[in-house]
Amino acid sequence: MNQEFIWGAATSSYQIEGAADEDGKGLHIWDVYSRQPGMVFDNHNGDVACDHYHRYREDVALMKEIGIQGYRFSISWSRIFPEGTGKVNEKGLAFYDKLIDELISNGVKPYITLFHWDYPYELYQRGGWMNPDSVDWFAEYAKTVVEHFSDRVTCFITFNEPQCFIGMGHVTGRHAPGLKNPLRDTFLMAHHVMMAHGKAVQAMRAVAKQPILIGYAPTSTVCAPDSDRAEDIEAARSLYFQCPEKPEEWSWNVSWWSDPVMFGRYPEDGIRQYAPYLPDIRPEDLALMNQPIDFYGQNIYNGYRVRQGGDGKPECVKRSPGYDKTAMEWPVTPESLYWGPRFLYERYQKPIYITENGMACHDMISRDGHIHDASRIDFTEAYIRELLRAREDGVDIRGYFYWSLMDNFEWTEGYRERFGLIYVDYQTQKRTLKDSAYWYREWIQNHR
Ligand code: FCB
Repeated sequence: MNQEFIWGAATSSYQIEGAADEDGKGLHIWDVYSRQPGMVFDNHNGDVACDHYHRYREDVALMKEIGIQGYRFSISWSRIFPEGTGKVNEKGLAFYDKLIDELISNGVKPYITLFHWDYPYELYQRGGWMNPDSVDWFAEYAKTVVEHFSDRVTCFITFNEPQCFIGMGHVTGRHAPGLKNPLRDTFLMAHHVMMAHGKAVQAMRAVAKQPILIGYAPTSTVCAPDSDRAEDIEAARSLYFQCPEKPEEWSWNVSWWSDPVMFGRYPEDGIRQYAPYLPDIRPEDLALMNQPIDFYGQNIYNGYRVRQGGDGKPECVKRSPGYDKTAMEWPVTPESLYWGPRFLYERYQKPIYITENGMACHDMISRDGHIHDASRIDFTEAYIRELLRAREDGVDIRGYFYWSLMDNFEWTEGYRERFGLIYVDYQTQKRTLKDSAYWYREWIQNHR
């Protein structure tokens, strides 16, 4: 395949920017949540984070040093609209103008995520995703961003991991706003989120100053076959797209969150199983969700092994004792980056970007001043090789974004977990490239 392929890295606004109360930014739900004692590990919060808001030039210089070709970052909605809707804050736009210009002049292609979880607090107080107006609020914000930046930026992603901000924010309550809403409400929120995606796509295309590419970036835990027997491949595929029978496990599913966007319909098994919890699903809602998009973004960290069980149904294979895992205790399963993209491409038939993949390690600065994160290098190369194998087998993959460019605020885990290619000392804000950053530089040079 001769398509352009981008080697990149990703971050998100609240996790790195800091400057939480500067230049007219409004509050968002993560500001409020993490300032409440007991919500985040050791009561950390993102008030300062990596101070990227003031150090973006240095950070772009480091991207250039690593040779990163694309940088996926998110815009903080409440910097642009302090109240979520209505009045635009020019200073918010100005920050991203400077960042984007800096990226472009250093040869790094910007990829903008519109929403990576920092929902404006004012809108949350007006009902947030429960409010049918939330669809228009998001579309207005998306339109403003594209109107302003599409003279220089051509790739936009609407939502990062809708499963997570609804599932963790409103089902388990482990993320902001920290609620355990009734299931009926969370299905309605999901419905509004996908309508907001569709309405935003329409609004973005209408105002773009040049042709733009629009994608969506849900997440998934991949199901990979335990062997290359056709039955096991089929078992893995069907489990990957099946809606869990227990409605309380619904929110992590693939098809519930992607079939409406890609096909304009909810999966039938889900419709059957979740009937008591579903909102009124109008044909015009589904039509709105189903706007043509240009690529399918996917965050992939790990997966299960699946085989056909004795009863003919798919079954997950128990992990072996002492299986490989990251500092987050997430299993290491490189084959996820082969099977995930392959199954997704077969079903949705859109070019794929891996919008996030990476690992947390127990990184530390050694006495020689370096950060020897050998396991991150090994992890990343193993995963990437599987991704390239999928590409060789015909899956249309356009890029890979390592999560994350630099250590940052890992939500409920605070600064405890380090995912970066760049080590951040949060006391001094000093950045140091880890061994993995040097490895990635070489990898990119050899695989342009
Ligand atoms: C993903 C999030 C990202 C980061 C990584 C580790 O779920 O999108 O912000 O927290 O996990």
